[in-house]
Amino acid sequence: MATQTRPLSSQLLEDNEDDDRLCYPDITAPPTEHSGQIGRPNGYLTGESRIERAWAHWKKLGQPKLIVAPMVDNSELPFRMLCRKYGAQAAYTPMLHSRIFTENEKYRSQEFTTCKEDRPLFVQFCANDPDVLLDAARRVEPYCDYVDINLGCPQRIARRGRYGAFLMDNLPLIKSLVEKLADNLNVPVSCKIRMFPDLQDTINYAKMLEDAGCALLAVHGRTRDEKDGKKFRANWNVIKAVRNAVRIPVLANGNIRHMDDVRECLEETGAEGVLSAESLLENPALFSGYRTAEWVLGSEEINKEGKLDQADLLVEYLKFCEKHPVPWRMIRSHVHKMLGEWFRIHPNIRDDLNAQYKLTFEFLYDIVNRLRELGVKMPLFVMGSDDYSLSSHRSVV
Ligand SMILES: Cc1cc2nc3c(=O)[nH]c(=O)nc-3n(C[C@H](O)[C@H](O)[C@H](O)COP(=O)(O)O)c2cc1C
Repeated sequence: MATQTRPLSSQLLEDNEDDDRLCYPDITAPPTEHSGQIGRPNGYLTGESRIERAWAHWKKLGQPKLIVAPMVDNSELPFRMLCRKYGAQAAYTPMLHSRIFTENEKYRSQEFTTCKEDRPLFVQFCANDPDVLLDAARRVEPYCDYVDINLGCPQRIARRGRYGAFLMDNLPLIKSLVEKLADNLNVPVSCKIRMFPDLQDTINYAKMLEDAGCALLAVHGRTRDEKDGKKFRANWNVIKAVRNAVRIPVLANGNIRHMDDVRECLEETGAEGVLSAESLLENPALFSGYRTAEWVLGSEEINKEGKLDQADLLVEYLKFCEKHPVPWRMIRSHVHKMLGEWFRIHPNIRDDLNAQYKLTFEFLYDIVNRLRELGVKMPLFVMGSDDYSLSSHRSVV
């Protein structure tokens, strides 16, 4: 993982100034046995039937290809809604800490919010105790399409907390986490993994997950030591090898910067879909064919300057935030990501933002207006060759 994952403890301590405006599912109640909506858990199924069921579920969801990756503090509801509006066909929540989720009501209501248009949805947990994970998962299963296990977080906090990619040192524990969910939940369990340095180890790992009941596997084509996504290119060959070795749907993750990457990745790996993270933060309209200047300069194929720019997208994001309140730290992070290039030209406006301890929507809309008045122009581009057949530019309000 290339950028910041803030300590969960500090997330917990930070107050949401809009506390009483959070109005989402009642996940505060203790979970009920098998409260989900898609029938019986996997526990009674044979291996063959599990595979069939995994595909049937994937098909029922419309086989989404363009997917918002899980991002702590960044793939929250308003951002997911913005990406869905611009072509994303499914999305992951940020990683939620299963133990804290079961213990702390405030954490639950602040960190997991959703709405009925927010589907298909993967809810991701980190965990190292199967019973705790199941307790957490049961609380969200009525509101999602997969409960996902984070097996890829490479950060120091994950090492200390014994979760994420550090569970790769304890495969029997991973197996028990997956089995626990697969045998007891009504929604399927998915896993997001990183690769081992050795290809055969990675393939054996993926097969173990499939045998344990994992119904969908997202493969990030980097090892846990390759933390910097800008420095290390994701290895699509490994994703392809995993895709060929297992029978459940596989998603590819890493190096998706624009729609040409999507097409190439799907072709090269054979994966069912792709996840994008960092590039979407800068350009949430990526899945609609828009790209930032970085990916068009020098190309002769540009045929039009799109009608959008990042400030437009930020304004749309802020509107979603007004409708679906989230902690200000998440909003602040998106302002920096979406307006990063603009701030490089006018660092004084970034300084004003940084100096503003307590944010308001009025202040943020004003930032956008000031940049526009200064005449900053940074359109997103649409390439001549981009067709949108992969994307669905849906109307989400
Ligand atoms: C800000 C940020 C937060 C992230 N948080 C998570 C997370 O909560 N769970 C997870 O599995 N991966 C997380 N990741 C990793 C991404 O999901 C993704 O695997 C990685 O960034 C590679 O994709 P990319 O090359 O498209 O950026 C995060 C990445 C970023 C940039």
